Amino acid sequence: MGKLIFHGQSCTEIVTGDGTRLLVDPFLTDNPIADVGREHFHDRLDYILLTHGHYDHVADAWPLLQETEPTLIASFEIASYAQEVLGHGKAHPLHIGGGFDFPFGRVKMTPALHGGQVAGDGAEGYTTVPAGLLMTLDGTHIYHAGDTALITDMTLLEGQVDIALLPIGDNFTMGPEDAARAVDMIKPRVVIPMHYDTWPLIAQDAEAFRVRVEPLAEVVVMQPGDEYEF
Ligand code: NI
Ligand code: MN
Repeated sequence: MGKLIFHGQSCTEIVTGDGTRLLVDPFLTDNPIADVGREHFHDRLDYILLTHGHYDHVADAWPLLQETEPTLIASFEIASYAQEVLGHGKAHPLHIGGGFDFPFGRVKMTPALHGGQVAGDGAEGYTTVPAGLLMTLDGTHIYHAGDTALITDMTLLEGQVDIALLPIGDNFTMGPEDAARAVDMIKPRVVIPMHYDTWPLIAQDAEAFRVRVEPLAEVVVMQPGDEYEF
């Protein structure tokens, strides 16, 4: 049995049944709703996974690469930045449509429609294509959508997702209405809303989203620090 711990915005820690510790989109220090800082991961961090290069997804990834030496799983461009500019040797590049069987499970990159900047010192030449992550961990299929608009490509995920983490914040990503349409397309068993309430600009009523979507799937509203076992 594994567990998923939400840390606010899109930052999601996952511990698999064998104890492997993953961190998706580390955003802690400047994240006003994060429940922990980087020191929370200093005892062990095996992998960092990134959906795209925006600051609110990578800000704490770069220092954590140095502090805990995890393997980075990211798009080719972001992995190249980590290797060539940051000198981080443990990077595994993936790209849209491709997956790889890691010791802890499978990770496949899925399409996302969003911006491609990579935020970091010396990262100007490393724009990328944003992605979602479809992870198969201990037999459970977890889809972390990253930052994205509603896209018809999501229909391809139907039947492949048990737990879907979907942005609902609006303004930069899908809002609640489009996220509800995404749930209808993907048909996951469980939906965890993310990328909202971090700042007033993306404030949303997650409870209203839950009531609206609950006929389609179970909605688990997580506060930063909350754990969900899968
Ligand atoms: Ni973004
Ligand atoms: Mn974002």
